[in-house]
This record gives sequence, structure tokens and C-alpha cells, in this order.
Amino acid sequence: MHSSETVSFSAATRARRSRRALKATSSVPDSVIVDLVESTLLNVPSAFNSQTTRISILLHDNHRKLWTLTGDVLLNEIGEKLYTARNGHMPSTKEKMATFGNAYGTILFWDDLAAIKQFKDEAPGIYKDKCEEWATQSNGMHQYHIWVALETFGLGASLQHYNPLVDEHVRKIWGQPAEWALRAQMVFGTPVPGAPLPEKIQKVPVEKRLNVFGAIIENGT
Ligand SMILES: Cc1cc2nc3c(=O)[nH]c(=O)nc-3n(C[C@H](O)[C@H](O)[C@H](O)COP(=O)(O)O)c2cc1C
Repeated sequence: MHSSETVSFSAATRARRSRRALKATSSVPDSVIVDLVESTLLNVPSAFNSQTTRISILLHDNHRKLWTLTGDVLLNEIGEKLYTARNGHMPSTKEKMATFGNAYGTILFWDDLAAIKQFKDEAPGIYKDKCEEWATQSNGMHQYHIWVALETFGLGASLQHYNPLVDEHVRKIWGQPAEWALRAQMVFGTPVPGAPLPEKIQKVPVEKRLNVFGAIIENGT
């Protein structure tokens, strides 16, 4: 799955993992990544077509700058001792920042709070209390779509959340609007070959998470 071969979307949904050990290379040119994100914004659904999700792509120096900045913010917030502390076999926050910075790029997912307010103002009364939740759902769809699509390119990704600690700095450095609230940071790059991944565990058996009523199941004979 991690060669540059193209794989189907459904195979990629099975192959997608949280890949945190990533290299600063890409199997596809930057234009393909930009096209993917543009296509995501054009095609992922939103409630009442409200289109409240915003995305910024940080590549190369810009990507590295984000993780230096995030490290600086965290160090300032928690102090040197906690920043460098390891928890058992878990890497320290400092080591995590270095790992993220060594990947290829980061995709930032935002909610446009002004657009959500407008959506809410214009929504029919019975839906007004649903608008924030629907914006969150649509934002998550954008995230998942890109995560799986990256896998089809042979790229790996993980989802990180250093918002809202870094929001103001990020908005300022990259000139993003004040009304954008950062929701997730997707770090991506070429998976380090052989990097261990935790086994996929069904914490709750799928039978307990799925109810099917009325399906005609073919017995396959
Ligand atoms: C909404 C959401 C938030 C997550 N937040 C983080 C995060 O902040 N840091 C991280 O390393 N992984 C994060 N993850 C990844 C999950 O831990 C991971 O998807 C889950 O353990 C299943 O593993 P898999 O992605 O390899 O299938 C998040 C996933 C989701 C869906």
C-alpha cells in the first residue's frame, strides 16, 4: 500500500491507519495534494450546503515552521520538565514535535465561525440548535476524505490536536482570518517502512455496533 501504486478507495479505507512515523518525501507532486484538497472542498457535503469548513495546506518550510512553533508554544505552556518527560515507552512532547516536523506537510482544518453564525441565523428555527454539530460533522468528513485519499497516493497521515493553543499564532503567521477556529492538524508524508503500528482492535465487537434490519443476505453458494 505504500508504494506509489494507485489503490481503490475501499482498499484504502481498510489500509488507512494513524501513521506517525513519516518521512519528508511525497509520492505525488504538491499540485496533486492541492488538487485533492480543492476537490474535497468542492465535493464533501455540508448541512444545507453551508460550506463552513476551511482548509490550509502547509508544505516544506511552512510545515516545519508549524511544528517548531507548536513546540515553542507547548514548552512555554508546560515547562521544560514536562516537555521533555517520557511516559513509559511513549515519546516526550519534544520528541513528538520533532517527529511531526520531519514529515512532509500538514493540512489544517478550520471551522469558519462567522459562516456557522450565518448558517445558524438563516437556518429554519427547528434546525438552529443543530448547526454547530453539523459543521463539526462536515469538518470530520473533510478530514476523513483526505486521510483516505492520501493513503491511495501511498502517503500516510495522523490527526493531531494542538488547537486552540496554537490558533492565534497560526492565524497570525499565515494570515488566516480571525473568525477561523482550528479543529485539527493532519500531518502527512511517506510512511517509514516497517514502522510498527498497533494492532487494529475492536474494543466493542462490530456486532454490538451494527444492527441490520431487513437485509436479504445471499448465502454465497
Ligand atoms: C476525532 C479524532 C481525534 C483524534 N485525535 C488524535 C490526536 O490528537 N493525536 C493522535 O495521535 N491521534 C489522534 N486520533 C487517532 C486515533 O487515535 C486513531 O484513529 C485510533 O486509535 C484508531 O487507529 P487507526 O487510525 O490507526 O485506525 C484521532 C482520531 C479521531 C477520529
